[in-house]
Amino acid sequence: MAQINEHYRRLAAGYLFPEIGRRVQAFQEAQPDAALIRLGIGDVTLPLAPAVVEALHTAVEEMGTEAGFRGYGPGQGYDFLVEAIREHDYAARGIALAADEIFVSDGSKQDSGNIQEIFGAACRITVTDPVYPVYIDTNVMAGRAGGVDAAGRYAGITYIPATEANGFSPEPPTQPADLAYLCSPNNPTGSVMDRAKLTAWVAWAREHEAVLIFDAAYDAFIQDPELPHSIYEVEGARECAIEMRSF
Ligand SMILES: Cc1ncc(COP(=O)(O)O)c(C=O)c1O
Repeated sequence: MAQINEHYRRLAAGYLFPEIGRRVQAFQEAQPDAALIRLGIGDVTLPLAPAVVEALHTAVEEMGTEAGFRGYGPGQGYDFLVEAIREHDYAARGIALAADEIFVSDGSKQDSGNIQEIFGAACRITVTDPVYPVYIDTNVMAGRAGGVDAAGRYAGITYIPATEANGFSPEPPTQPADLAYLCSPNNPTGSVMDRAKLTAWVAWAREHEAVLIFDAAYDAFIQDPELPHSIYEVEGARECAIEMRSF
């Protein structure tokens, strides 16, 4: 008999986002003229940049020719793309990565979810709070989260509050953890971890033999030249960190 994965029943977001939707709709019906700032699920608001549109058109044209057609791509990504990432995102910042250390996928949302599958079920998870919900939900589905309280927090996950007092950039936890998710620049706070903070996290991970999953999806928004774009700018991070990027 087919059985459901019981862990899915614990997903608080399954209740939270439809509930936000219902409340927003009710509010808008009651106050149709009120300007509303949405703090629920985010969405992008600007059209594609001309360079992106042009590159997409060019790629489609290329695929329509005998000479330019490509079938299934290599599993870890096209060499030309891996090389561009290696050069522009890493070598330009003094980080020497080998081509086989870079994996191109269909998006960092999927991979920030998929990555937990390579770790054991007993791994203890820590996240800064608030953070991109995908890290939490995928660990809930994998059975690492335990019960959920009324505020949607899971008993088996260590939440480290990001507050004004710590500059929305928390220190490593004092409780034990094996996998730590860091998002810098952070969704949703926008805060960027500075070198000292990242150095503390790398030292913590090495001391506890933990792994940092570092999501730099928004690195292009960093404007202060002093702020790191990559966790690999920190000495020792190569031993303990997996970095995600997004285009
Ligand atoms: C922190 C963070 N990482 C990753 C993603 C998704 O990235 P991609 O578009 O590459 O799947 C998002 C999108 O909301 C995000 O906020």
